[in-house]
Amino acid sequence: MEKTGLDVERRRFIDILLGSGLVATLISVIYPVIEFLIPPKVAEAEQNSVVAGKVGELKPNSAKIFKFGSAPGILIYTASGEYRAFAATCTHLDCIVQYRPDRKQIWCACHNGQYDLTGRNTGGPPPRPLDVYKVNLRGEDIVVSKA
Ligand code: FES
Repeated sequence: MEKTGLDVERRRFIDILLGSGLVATLISVIYPVIEFLIPPKVAEAEQNSVVAGKVGELKPNSAKIFKFGSAPGILIYTASGEYRAFAATCTHLDCIVQYRPDRKQIWCACHNGQYDLTGRNTGGPPPRPLDVYKVNLRGEDIVVSKA
């Protein structure tokens, strides 16, 4: 049986119709998957100050980790009775630092990074100082803010 020009046109029209339906179906399935895998970037609300603790909570020569937004901070109550606060993320490879009361310094256990009580990097691999925060007392609250 020989195909006429009309049959060829009809066949082509059906192919296009089926092809475009298949493409639409694939897009409707793939698009939500891509949306899920690549979430939109939502800017984190900038937080400029936080209550890091209460007066009397820390003994002299001790420290605590607090949350500054989504990042950790470290609040130190020095042996001489001063509050100091820094970003607690090591400037080497982002480990969380801790206070060493025996050495009176900030220390990163990951690669033996060392910082003094002004946040300056003094030993080990950290390439730069810790970010320094301001500390103010508001009643019983110890308020830490970005400088
Ligand atoms: S991550 Fe802190 S010293 Fe390497």
